[in-house]
Amino acid sequence: MSNIYQSNDTNILHAAEIIKKGGLVAFPTETVYGLGANVYNSSAVANIFAAKQRPHFDPLISHIAEIDFLPEYAATDGRVIALAKHFWPGPLTMVLNRIEENPSIDLACSGLRTLTVRMPNHQTALSLIKKSGVPIVAPSANKYQSISPTTAQHVADGLGDKVDMILDGGNCSVGVESTIIDLTGKEVVLLRAGGTAKEDIETFLGEKVLISDGNPDMPTAPGQLLRHYAPKNQLRINVEKPEKDEFFIGFGMINGDLNLSEKGDLAEAASHLFAYLRLADQHATNGKIAIAPIPQNGLGLAINDRIKRASYLK
Ligand code: TXA
Ligand code: MG
Repeated sequence: MSNIYQSNDTNILHAAEIIKKGGLVAFPTETVYGLGANVYNSSAVANIFAAKQRPHFDPLISHIAEIDFLPEYAATDGRVIALAKHFWPGPLTMVLNRIEENPSIDLACSGLRTLTVRMPNHQTALSLIKKSGVPIVAPSANKYQSISPTTAQHVADGLGDKVDMILDGGNCSVGVESTIIDLTGKEVVLLRAGGTAKEDIETFLGEKVLISDGNPDMPTAPGQLLRHYAPKNQLRINVEKPEKDEFFIGFGMINGDLNLSEKGDLAEAASHLFAYLRLADQHATNGKIAIAPIPQNGLGLAINDRIKRASYLK
């Protein structure tokens, strides 16, 4: 039996009860579907890691519904609050220092002294958080290293009965995960390109955002792993002329079996990316997928980051 439920007031209330009792609820955000649990309930958080088969050294993002709550939850300063007011709700996640010893959230933070927070731009998510009355930690609702879900059905296909309830809020409008920036130092450092363009953050702050040049295998930001978001089939990137036996995903003027955005619109391309990689997996009869070049600006940074990791050979 399917555990997908339409997102309406009754079902959101039911979902909030599940969260309060320590269960797992998958819910829509503007980026991708999240697999949610009460941040303060360590056994619920442990179940997230188990359901995803995700290593415990990979910390989770806390989702909150009110900016006023942020200073109670993490260390803030003028820059942090200004960013929150400007970009939230929206696909920007901030790495901040923790403000108190709170062992109940150690697992969610993978024991680090930092905490990551964002406010999603989706009514279902915001309502669920408010009704639950706690921050909800949520990684993308997929198995570790596989393609992130942008529909309720994707969640059911990947995690099925490991989740108590899936709230269906339709297709995710942004389609790639949030941008993660580290604000614990003097400089702002980009840890993951995502749904908020780096240029927009730079324009707002009037300063350069540095790119994390750490070891991509370091566990502090394992979303940076070399192989991630991976389809089952082999993927070639930056392809202008595909081989005859490749399933080809085009972009702009370069058409293929599918086109991420005929207009060459990077936001539209991002919103199709994960769903098209799944379709390509289903239709690539010869086990080969190729994808056209994507410009490296705006949301193109996030798209190129995802497909580069998706193409990395096991
Ligand atoms: O758009 C999103 O951010 C989605 C939706 C559901 O909100 N969530 C998401 O979560 O993508 P997840 O767990 O798949 O990716 C979170 C990334 C991981 O790569 C993790 O290593 C990194 O954030 N991260 C979390 N806390 C961190 C911290 N304190 N320092 C560095 N990286 C951190
Ligand atoms: Mg993920």
